[in-house]
Amino acid sequence: MSAAVEVRAMRREELAEAADLLAGAFAEGTNLSSFVPRARRHERLRRFFTVAGEIDHLPHGVAEVAVGRRGGDERLLAVAWWHPPSPTGPDRAPVPRSWRELSTALAVFGVRRLPAAARSRAASRRARPAEPHWHLAYLASRAEPDARGAATALLEHRLVLADAEGVGSHLESSSTSTIGFYERLGWRVTAPVRGPGGRSTTAMWRPAGGASR
Ligand SMILES: CC(C)(COP(=O)(O)OP(=O)(O)OC[C@H]1O[C@@H](n2cnc3c(N)ncnc32)[C@H](O)[C@@H]1OP(=O)(O)O)[C@@H](O)C(=O)NCCC(=O)NCCS
Repeated sequence: MSAAVEVRAMRREELAEAADLLAGAFAEGTNLSSFVPRARRHERLRRFFTVAGEIDHLPHGVAEVAVGRRGGDERLLAVAWWHPPSPTGPDRAPVPRSWRELSTALAVFGVRRLPAAARSRAASRRARPAEPHWHLAYLASRAEPDARGAATALLEHRLVLADAEGVGSHLESSSTSTIGFYERLGWRVTAPVRGPGGRSTTAMWRPAGGASR
């Protein structure tokens, strides 16, 4: 890493920059992007992440960032949004619960792709383990040299705390190319999560302390 990197909680005023970073990283080759029309995709995804941050991850989740410093300037290099362990089990609601969520989904996915996007979301929610766990909902880093290692530092920060709590963590790897990245940090493949139209993601579980190699 060529710039000093700090991992910390995301601030409310950083949401726009984080949503833009996530939108750029998720625009191609991810399960989410397969439900978003090509036209204005970046803008649609930015809206998706802005609303997810506002209604879910900032008020109810754990939103963390890796920040790079050059001189006096600060810039987000990587973003991780988690759902913390819940004693009542994961949120498995299959459909949007508010008008804002529904209208956002319509604007992001369009009428034609909305049913498939909803089925994919429901499949993801069913795949969540019943036991209390950390859920890595979204992770992205900038594709540039300064961001090298930032995503790993971000995950390691949260995993040290999860290990101290004795709590495991669950995620879905959107593409097979990221499975190896997560395996390095102690996750292991559990099962495919089958979505609509033959799409699938890969559920991964990391027990507290990480899986042994
Ligand atoms: C996934 C993502 C966050 C990883 O970010 P990154 O910048 O590559 O992460 P880091 O720089 O911290 O770590 C990369 C390290 O993991 C290694 N790595 C990456 N993919 C790997 C793989 N498939 N198998 C093994 N190692 C892998 C790299 O070689 C590198 O190791 P090194 O530092 O020893 O050279 C980034 O690619 C991204 O934003 N992708 C788009 C969004 C996305 O797919 N998010 C995850 C959805 S499940």
